[in-house]
Amino acid sequence: MNPLLVIKRIFDRRQKTTEIASVPLKSIDSNEVIHCVLVIVERFTREYDVAQSRLIGKLRTMSSTEAGVEEFNKIWQEFSRDMLTTPQWTYLLFPDECSEDKELLELVKKISNISAHSKSLLTPQLEDWIRSNLDLQNTGGLFNRLLLELKNNDPTTCGSFKFLSRFHTFKDILCGYFVRPELKVVQRTIFHQCYLQRINWKQGYCFDYPYQGFDKLAVSGVKPTEERLLRYEIDSFLKNEDKVLDIGSNGGFFSLALAEKVGSIDGVEYNPYLIQIANIAKDYLGISNARFIVADFVEWIPEDKYDAVFSMANHCTIDGNLSVGFEDYIAKIFTLMKPGGILFFESHNVFGPGEGGPGDDGDLDIKFDIVEKYFEVVQHKMVKTFVPDLDVDKLFVILQRREDVQHNVQRTFNLAKAKLHYDY
Ligand SMILES: C[S@@+](CC[C@H](N)C(=O)[O-])C[C@H]1O[C@@H](n2cnc3c(N)ncnc32)[C@H](O)[C@@H]1O
Repeated sequence: MNPLLVIKRIFDRRQKTTEIASVPLKSIDSNEVIHCVLVIVERFTREYDVAQSRLIGKLRTMSSTEAGVEEFNKIWQEFSRDMLTTPQWTYLLFPDECSEDKELLELVKKISNISAHSKSLLTPQLEDWIRSNLDLQNTGGLFNRLLLELKNNDPTTCGSFKFLSRFHTFKDILCGYFVRPELKVVQRTIFHQCYLQRINWKQGYCFDYPYQGFDKLAVSGVKPTEERLLRYEIDSFLKNEDKVLDIGSNGGFFSLALAEKVGSIDGVEYNPYLIQIANIAKDYLGISNARFIVADFVEWIPEDKYDAVFSMANHCTIDGNLSVGFEDYIAKIFTLMKPGGILFFESHNVFGPGEGGPGDDGDLDIKFDIVEKYFEVVQHKMVKTFVPDLDVDKLFVILQRREDVQHNVQRTFNLAKAKLHYDY
């Protein structure tokens, strides 16, 4: 069928749904946009989020002069139009609208294809649709709704990954457009994988927004890697020549940040979209000593033994993709490591009831009866959560692999005491 006919058909139907779905909200004057955006991005600032600080600084400077506001408006036009005509941005920023109205995404896909090949195929009707949804005076328009929802809700108390995901996505892309334009392409490629994950992968983490952040790419992430590493204070346990394994390496940002501290690092990750993200970031940053392997950790057999292993919130995964008992998991890590090697272990919820459910580490004493047969506890501490409303403080333990398994060893670890030990 002629693609223009398909678009027209979708467009006609879309007009009707938009009219029905319009919820009258406050209109936003174009002079207010910069202030509205500032209110949004100033929420939830984090110490090591350099990109966000730069964005806030830039927007404040822009808002203080007429020329600055004019420059803002120019970039904003480009930014908002791209958001509405690129499927990954549209889907991540308007999740409810896209799931309620399947044709919305189809329309955006068509527009994105057209603009790539020939702008002349953008009919006046489609241009009207784009314009009306970008118009902040249009109280039913998609952008009016987005800005007001982001402005009127607080990501630190919203209680939902869906909202946090929209908030961070919006802010990260703004960083790309306003302060780090060299990152626009790589961000677009990374978020394209988030979008593919949303469509194709059941049980993505954090509503498909990156779980791990990486300031180098202006991706805030739910867990900012740089800050996370500072909190763990692990540098003295790693050597330049170490061969390291990261189990469940997710989007690879944590492994890539570790790569500069060690000889080489392998990330094993089950989810192929996350592996794609890791490889995109690795290539962009020109990191050559990291390798990402799509595999089920349970089945995977490595070529060599490791000096250090990271098991960060991975001994039971809430996506249900890790199908192995706790002792088998620990025993497998033991076999992959050199004697004396270091295991970095991050818990799930140590405040849980200890009934063995997914993510419940209230039974960590029982689990450490097992762990200590294979590893000796070197030190541990509680580490504050990055999203108080959505996650809990985690226990971080550093362990050393024993020469041999010691079946009759007495456990030294005590969860009740460990839960009280915060060191900053
Ligand atoms: C809670 S996340 C932790 C990610 C990472 N370790 C961190 O702390 O930043 C769990 C990760 O394990 C991955 N995963 C789940 N089952 C897996 C399996 N069987 N093999 C490898 N990775 C798995 C998930 O896709 C996800 O990226």
